[in-house]
Amino acid sequence: MTIRLGDVAPNFIAASTEGEIELYAYLGTSWGVLFSHPRDFTPVCTTELGEVARLKPQFDARNVKVIGLSVDALPDHVKWSKDIEDTQRVRLNFPLIADPDRRVSDAYGMIHPNASDTFTVRSVFVIGPDKRVKLTLTYPASTGRNFDELLRVIDSLKLTAEHSVATPVNWQHGQDVIIVPALSDADARLRFPAGWRAEKPYLRYVRDPGTARTTRTAR
Ligand code: BEZ
Repeated sequence: MTIRLGDVAPNFIAASTEGEIELYAYLGTSWGVLFSHPRDFTPVCTTELGEVARLKPQFDARNVKVIGLSVDALPDHVKWSKDIEDTQRVRLNFPLIADPDRRVSDAYGMIHPNASDTFTVRSVFVIGPDKRVKLTLTYPASTGRNFDELLRVIDSLKLTAEHSVATPVNWQHGQDVIIVPALSDADARLRFPAGWRAEKPYLRYVRDPGTARTTRTAR
């Protein structure tokens, strides 16, 4: 199954290191990140899970619940958690789903047969409060992900969901954003009464409306 942007994220019930989880109930009105690992007791995954545990306060601050997944069974997850704590110096503080029958992995298309018939690739799904998929990422097993980039993208997803803006290349929270082309200048004037900086008619920069700053440069 291929999951595309805008699709409804499949709901599921699965065992995890924090007890049984029903995805929709677990997420409630929060955003969610569901990310998969090839298998337990592997080095790159160990470092990734440690990093996500370290970044958990950053996800919490953005009202995002993180959920990991690996196709191994729960007793292995519990044993592996101790290794993660030993080596990464941080306790696993979010659920890691056990998916030995590949039910969740198949529903999300996390197994790419030309990469591996049996193990999940490094998939990431960002799920909005409406339970629709807002972002997908796919990395091979050999390349660890950059979770700072995931936080940056979540900042963009949340901002652009609320305002008629898009974020430019390498954008970071607080930097100027771009008024979406679909918004006419007349409508933009209503939404951004303090004005914007136009480098071209279609390239209009405005202060990040998610920040408290209100002073504006000239139009
Ligand atoms: C890892 O997580 O370290 C890993 C897993 C599968 C293949 C290569 C690396």
